[in-house]
Amino acid sequence: MSLRKENSSILPKVMNGCLFFFQEFLKHPLQIGSVIPSSQALIKRVTETAQVQNARTIVELGPGTGCTTKAILENMRKDARLLSIEINPNFFSIINQIQDSRLIAHLGDARKLKQILADHHLQAPEAVISGIPFSTMSDECGSQIIRAIHEVLAPGGRFVAYQLSKKVISLCSPVMGQERVQFEFMNIPPMRVCCWEKGNGNGNGNGANKIRVRQ
Ligand SMILES: C[S@@+](CC[C@H](N)C(=O)[O-])C[C@H]1O[C@@H](n2cnc3c(N)ncnc32)[C@H](O)[C@@H]1O
Repeated sequence: MSLRKENSSILPKVMNGCLFFFQEFLKHPLQIGSVIPSSQALIKRVTETAQVQNARTIVELGPGTGCTTKAILENMRKDARLLSIEINPNFFSIINQIQDSRLIAHLGDARKLKQILADHHLQAPEAVISGIPFSTMSDECGSQIIRAIHEVLAPGGRFVAYQLSKKVISLCSPVMGQERVQFEFMNIPPMRVCCWEKGNGNGNGNGANKIRVRQ
């Protein structure tokens, strides 16, 4: 198939995906928090920062229409597992159609992360990636999610959150320690990519290490 033909068949799919995402945003603006899915540049930065290629168990919170899910699957190991937790039933049904035996799509709330991991008999994740909008949820709800992530994350594991607002930093840093922030401008809107690494229990007060992330 020629490149022109391939592009002409991909474009309508991308446009349909964006339109569907936008329609769901109009129904649940606070829960979705963004008008269109993440760009390829943002997704690349997020998957690299989370080091998904090294992880055996990966958790994705808020996969939406699956652009991030597919990129994680493309980059992760053959023997790794990806648990994608989505609260919106219409988005969940899209994720649930992805044909990959390494993926577990789960309809539910990120606040129940610990129970969901246990229900699927999964190990502590080395990478947790979140696109859920902390800025539009209550502090209580956001804190519950952060505490759940910190509790389940494997020692040395990474939590990566991509957000427009700084609220995730104020919620997360008291629990996880020093954040590392990059900016991705090739996205609408430009995003902060924040990363925390859980300590190895070697004396660090809040269980988090300072980390270096390639800019
Ligand atoms: C900004 S969209 C991100 C979608 C996709 N990952 C991307 O980057 O394009 C945020 C997603 O988080 C989901 N979400 C919001 N709150 C959630 C929660 N408590 N648990 C699970 N998913 C949640 C929304 O339904 C939505 O799909």
